[in-house]
Amino acid sequence: RAQRDAVQRALAAQGQQPGALLPVLHAVQDALGFIPPASVAVLAQGLGLSRADVHGVITYYHHFRQTPPARHTLQLCQAEACRACGATELMAQATERLSAALPGAVGLEPVYCLGLCASAPALMLDEQPLGRVTPQRLDELLTPLLA
Ligand code: FES
Repeated sequence: RAQRDAVQRALAAQGQQPGALLPVLHAVQDALGFIPPASVAVLAQGLGLSRADVHGVITYYHHFRQTPPARHTLQLCQAEACRACGATELMAQATERLSAALPGAVGLEPVYCLGLCASAPALMLDEQPLGRVTPQRLDELLTPLLA
């Protein structure tokens, strides 16, 4: 119901014209964190487009998500300075830990330099930067998020 309201609000606010598809999609994602697959038909009808048109735009732009975002985002730097200090192993460790956990808790993303090269290896957890990350520290960070 909250999803339907958000979609209707986006349609009402952005003017119901075909050119409004992108702004409407942005408004839905801003409100819900993703574009629910069930909203495609409503959006298509509201904008006078086909479902295929709407679906095509959602899948074309990487910015748009079709599933809810994870509750936490873990960005592990995989650029050179961090790789020289064990970042590849940290990525393998995080991947293994998360693959054994329920989906939706932590989204894992490689990034390429966080500007913390002097403190490599580095990560960013929910916008919080951290340097000199050891395997043990990574484990300590992940454990409460996966509980
Ligand atoms: Fe990892 Fe710069 S290379 S923070």
